[in-house]
Amino acid sequence: QKDGYPHFMIKEIHEQPTAITRTITPRIKDSLPCFEDDNIPDSFFEDISDITVVACGTAMYAGMVGKALLKNKFGIPVSVEIASEFRYEQPVLTDRSMVIFVSQSGETIDTLEALRLANKYTKKTLSIVNVKGSTIARESNYVLYTHAGPEIAVASTKAYTVQVASFYLIGCKIGLVSGRMTKEEAKTFIENLQEVPNLIESVITQAPEIEQLTKRMTNATNAFYIGRGLDYALSMEGALKLKEISYIHAEAYAAGELKHGTIALISEGVPVIAVATQSHVYSKVISNIREVKARGAYVILLSKDKDITDKSICDVHISLPQAPDEFVIFESVIICQLIAYYTSTGKGLNPDQPRNLAKSVTVE
Ligand code: F6R
Repeated sequence: QKDGYPHFMIKEIHEQPTAITRTITPRIKDSLPCFEDDNIPDSFFEDISDITVVACGTAMYAGMVGKALLKNKFGIPVSVEIASEFRYEQPVLTDRSMVIFVSQSGETIDTLEALRLANKYTKKTLSIVNVKGSTIARESNYVLYTHAGPEIAVASTKAYTVQVASFYLIGCKIGLVSGRMTKEEAKTFIENLQEVPNLIESVITQAPEIEQLTKRMTNATNAFYIGRGLDYALSMEGALKLKEISYIHAEAYAAGELKHGTIALISEGVPVIAVATQSHVYSKVISNIREVKARGAYVILLSKDKDITDKSICDVHISLPQAPDEFVIFESVIICQLIAYYTSTGKGLNPDQPRNLAKSVTVE
């Protein structure tokens, strides 16, 4: 069943190009987003005042990327809520509020209860779910199924990237119907999305290099992931992956936030995975990186640069294939998944069966 791979996790990392293609292709007609086959009418995406994304764990972090995209590219107010918090809070929703629930299993109890609560306030509930016919899918007004196929490894990989891809389709649709994006812009955006599977294919070939560099990570007790904008959003998922399968304490920080406290934790040899792929904040992230480097951090830098040899910036540079800023994050996340996987195996752990974790959390 592992098709020759040593673990389900690495098999599923490799399945991502196919999973994304399967998820996006039925939703693209004439290079534009189209949810006809999902029975979601265009009117569902019209006249939205705000969007709340509700989910847990990795699914919530997919929502963080969705938020960074939707807010900055399409000017829509978006908030991301942890389902276990949302369900016990007073929702601030109107009938123009869209609430998006993200869940691989479609059975996570906190996400389900949050959905039941939101259903009392708005008819604009949409779920992004992988498992067909699951409870969350059945109880939301509309459902957009991701087609990742069964995900066996406890640590989510392919389910996350298809969730993120779904946000790109939804964002583009809302951009179009709200007039924030022209048809031409939408076509270019979708054509770039269609290139993502190829981008991922080319990044996966760097796996042996990543395995080498993680040898340095296996001794770490702490690690930090830093970035700005979309890079910060994906860093949260990068940190979670490392935590859950390698048991190394890892946190993601908005790069500009470090100096407000966290930089005190940077000492000789602490790994910092720095993601600097967003042009408008590139120079800012680089200066944040110099700050941690000057304090002894072991910096692994992910960027679109061909080569960075300046040792005052990083110890290791991972060069990502050229892609527009919004799409390069699909490459960065693959690198983060590989870092977590090889750190786990390098420590002699089984990444498929992390301690204390279950694939589906159906109890509170
Ligand atoms: C981490 C992971 C979890 C799940 C979370 C939500 O790798 O898989 O954080 O994302 O438990 O599960 P679903 O998506 O099934 O609602």
